Amino acid sequence: MCPSIPLSASPDPAPAKADDARHTRVLAALQAALGPRVVQAPADFAGRKHADSSRMPCEEPIALVRPSTTEEVATALRICFEHDQAVVTQGGLTGLSGGACLREGEVALSLERMRGIEDIDAVSATMTVLAGTPLQVVQEAADEAGFLFPLDLGARGSATIGGNLATNAGGNRVIRYGMMREQVLDVEAVLADGSVIGGRHRMIKNNTGYDLRNLVIGSEGTLAVITRAVLRLRPRPTAVSTAFCGLPSYEAVTTLLRRGQAVLPAGVSAFEVMWPSYYDFVTTRMAGLRAPLPDRHAFYVLLESSGSDAARQGEAFESFLGEMLEEGLVEDAAIAASEADTQAFWAIRDAPSEYQKYIPGRVSFDISFAISEVGEAAVRCEAALRARWPKATILVYGHLGDGNIHIVVQEPDWPAHTSKEVQQVVFEITGAMNGSISAEHGIGLKRKHALGLSRTPVEIAAMQAIKRALDPKGLLNPGKIFG
Ligand code: LAC
Ligand code: ZN
Repeated sequence: MCPSIPLSASPDPAPAKADDARHTRVLAALQAALGPRVVQAPADFAGRKHADSSRMPCEEPIALVRPSTTEEVATALRICFEHDQAVVTQGGLTGLSGGACLREGEVALSLERMRGIEDIDAVSATMTVLAGTPLQVVQEAADEAGFLFPLDLGARGSATIGGNLATNAGGNRVIRYGMMREQVLDVEAVLADGSVIGGRHRMIKNNTGYDLRNLVIGSEGTLAVITRAVLRLRPRPTAVSTAFCGLPSYEAVTTLLRRGQAVLPAGVSAFEVMWPSYYDFVTTRMAGLRAPLPDRHAFYVLLESSGSDAARQGEAFESFLGEMLEEGLVEDAAIAASEADTQAFWAIRDAPSEYQKYIPGRVSFDISFAISEVGEAAVRCEAALRARWPKATILVYGHLGDGNIHIVVQEPDWPAHTSKEVQQVVFEITGAMNGSISAEHGIGLKRKHALGLSRTPVEIAAMQAIKRALDPKGLLNPGKIFG
């Protein structure tokens, strides 16, 4: 593939001129069908937050719809379809790409009232939940039932299962369990015209034609509204070994990963890598974080292995790290001896949740490459950014086991347009190295101008054909992904 150079994000085409009379009719029809408890006019929700966590621009909706059942979602979508009314589905508003942001003249469909666990089938290891259920509620319910729901990410308290599915969320344990699409057996979703698909199956195997579930997952609200999910539960690990390691080179990092996966009896359940830029910043500039290792290293790895044989696993973990130290692949390692140690190690990696306080106005990336090329990609991106903005703060870290790094770039007092130039520098390198401009955060509004760097024109045309087939009037989350 020969990617084209991205132009800086062009402004969205102006939404069709606000059609006040049509909006009044839609609001009246929605309220007549669903009542004022479900459908609110702007005067009723003044002061409510509508934007997600992307810092992208977001307008007020013309109506806020908060259904409690799939039938109410279907009614709302059928009415919007009849009135050619655009709808943006919203979950916990923790997205980082503007996928839930509103443009002018749109209805906001919040699934906040559709929360709850309907069923746990311990024999089949499944859990059926409504889409508005927060991730953490699902994790805790799985734990109580003796299982693990493995998806995990910093926004777990607010992020909803529906949003996790709509964005195919990733996070810290993808290396072992896969992304959100691998945690689900069926998805119930409402199509643009109000018809309902899926949600009945609780089995792993189902080769009955096109996989509609996987089409809807990751479509960022542009193909259907996810209302319910049959989640897949895993055995709950009872023993977790965690180490914070310092390494001399990128080659040592990838060797540690491969050897750990091959040798550790419980495999590798997290492999988070931090470049010195990130490690130094968070341990010296951010309050409450202590460096786990006394000396500086070229790379830092948070290594986790989780299984169910505490004695054998702990011993194997220590002897594996001992071998790595002997061979010089690891220069130093701290093994967590307590829950407090484990939490302190993870606090170093979870520091981005405090970025807003320390690095406001930052430009953030979520890019991926073949694991063998991540080291080179990071070097190239950092060098190109540094050449252009010598004084910038540039932090590199990420889920290396998945080929996914995050880069954060900031310089105080940058003019607003700089973020487009910063994106261009990193995206050009990403496209040229056959990487992905979004590994786990999605395209939304934020990255749609650069989609062509990671997808060919033929691929984008195929996606648009699917969009037209399922949403012929273009009413579901318009202007997201493409545009
Ligand atoms: C992280 C999130 C932001 O890895 O993707 O920190
Ligand atoms: Zn991440």
